[in-house]
Amino acid sequence: MSDTLQLEMLPLEADIRRRIAAAGPMPVDEYMSLCLADSEHGYYITHDPFGAGGDFITAPEVSQMFGEMIGLWIAAVWKQMGSPENLRVIELGPGRGTMLNDALRAAKVMPKFSEAVVVHLVEISPALEAQQQRTLEHLETPVYWHPALVDVPKGPAIILANEFFDALPINQAVKTERGWHERQVEIDADGKLAFTIAPDPIPQFERLLPPPLNSAPEGAIFEWRTNNVAMELGRRLANDGGAALVIDYGHAESAVGDTFQAVGKHAYADPLSAPGTIDLTAHVDFQALANAVEAMGVEGYGPVTQSQFLRRLGILTRAASLKTKSRATDAATIDAALKRLISEGEAGMGTLFKAAAFAHPSVGALPGFEN
Ligand SMILES: C[S@@+](CC[C@H](N)C(=O)[O-])C[C@H]1O[C@@H](n2cnc3c(N)ncnc32)[C@H](O)[C@@H]1O
Repeated sequence: MSDTLQLEMLPLEADIRRRIAAAGPMPVDEYMSLCLADSEHGYYITHDPFGAGGDFITAPEVSQMFGEMIGLWIAAVWKQMGSPENLRVIELGPGRGTMLNDALRAAKVMPKFSEAVVVHLVEISPALEAQQQRTLEHLETPVYWHPALVDVPKGPAIILANEFFDALPINQAVKTERGWHERQVEIDADGKLAFTIAPDPIPQFERLLPPPLNSAPEGAIFEWRTNNVAMELGRRLANDGGAALVIDYGHAESAVGDTFQAVGKHAYADPLSAPGTIDLTAHVDFQALANAVEAMGVEGYGPVTQSQFLRRLGILTRAASLKTKSRATDAATIDAALKRLISEGEAGMGTLFKAAAFAHPSVGALPGFEN
């Protein structure tokens, strides 16, 4: 490689190359973890990815209606929990704080609920934490920040996670005639970062796979997360009581497929290009997530599609009510946002996005998940 190329190289790519040169090909989860969360050059450490000038847009940023529906959900669940006087509302990966801001405003219809709430945010991005402070500083509710769920003080809680689990690193395995091999990142013969597989299969991997996937064809890719956060979430609900709502894009049942993707400036990119400057995600396997949470002794609900969930909570009525108070141009914006949140085609979030919920067995069936 020429000196000029070396000088132009992104600092995180240079670091990844050094690591590969020293220790050999790097597992996909280590690559993804460095790209997103490296303490100096990770994407979430250095970027505020939101908005039209950013890299992507999430449901709370599409419309206030999304957070408002979540607000009604948490107030109803708090009541089902027996209206505890102290409730922790914990959000994992709150982005700009928009969803919680809209949710707590909508939940003001139950003043006793607002008095009971203390907010705990779990966030790794200093830039986004500063933005969350700005968004939420007007609240009378106390707000605390933590690096991980395990750091949030014990007590009954409602835990929210919108587009959080997709940002957690995945492992990948590729099937060959010899078995399932870990997928890794190497430096190829042209000097570029490229995917490869470990020479030897992962011992006993078939025993970990959901049985229908054992007949997957050669070349198939299976993805999994270590799910420590999911297990911690389940442990917490089982020990301290409460409920959790997870909304994300992904599949209801475990399946094979390569969903590791990069997005920068609202367009798909090569996940191995520009480490640390583009967002990396992978679909959430809701079956694996539920297995990890429910193994801790809590009840699981769903997944249902985001469209079903928001409709059941009354988003159509809320949109109609907002429109009666709006000018025609604003009404058109509300319609477009509603379509984006619930429409089931390619352009909408309605079916790719799913909602699942979990609760201590004493809470009972949760709103939005009725049969
Ligand atoms: C795709 S954004 C979603 C933000 C927000 N929930 C929304 O819907 O707009 C992912 C969020 O998770 C945070 N995040 C990513 N990995 C994290 C981790 N390991 N621990 C805590 N927060 C994390 C990011 O900084 C960001 O706030």
